[in-house]
Amino acid sequence: MKELGMVLFGCLIFTGFFATVIYPDMEYKGYPSTHSCTGMCYAEYVEVNGTVVEQLRAKQELANLDEFSNIRSLWSGCAACHGQEGQGMAVFPKLAGQTQDYIVDRLNTYKNRGEVGAMSSTMWGQAGMLSDADINMLGKFIEVELK
Ligand code: HEC
Repeated sequence: MKELGMVLFGCLIFTGFFATVIYPDMEYKGYPSTHSCTGMCYAEYVEVNGTVVEQLRAKQELANLDEFSNIRSLWSGCAACHGQEGQGMAVFPKLAGQTQDYIVDRLNTYKNRGEVGAMSSTMWGQAGMLSDADINMLGKFIEVELK
């Protein structure tokens, strides 16, 4: 019976060693930071920033709210001549302050190679590549955003 006692004692020592030294060590293996944001911390984060899904949804809504999001890159081409704010530069006419109807009418004239001023041919190539939807949106953009 002496041997059995020693085996049991050995097991006890090992279990104690495992529970106090090896196991706590193992638990954090692969997790360099034990400061994960869970429980209260996560609740606070959500309160301030919203959940990840809410954040994505808000971003999507912002993009949807900006009906001109597709037209802005197109406008940057126009802005090279007409100015970022449509203020006009040198020989390039000012577009800011015009109505959508006015802009649409002009662009359609240029698209059909019509003459407006002496430099109309400059605009023929510009307007020629615009779809009707582009022209409509550019007109609206200029009326609404470039006052
Ligand atoms: C290379 C320079 C250049 C670029 C780029 C350009 N334009 Fe023009 N734009 C002109 C010039 C020059 C005129 C004057 C043409 C004329 O004499 O009729 C003009 C005239 C216009 C007019 C008529 C203004 C008026 O009061 O009669 C509109 C509207 C217009 N541009 C819109 C645009 C839009 C929208 C874009 C982008 C898709 C664009 N332009 C890109 C040079 C440019």
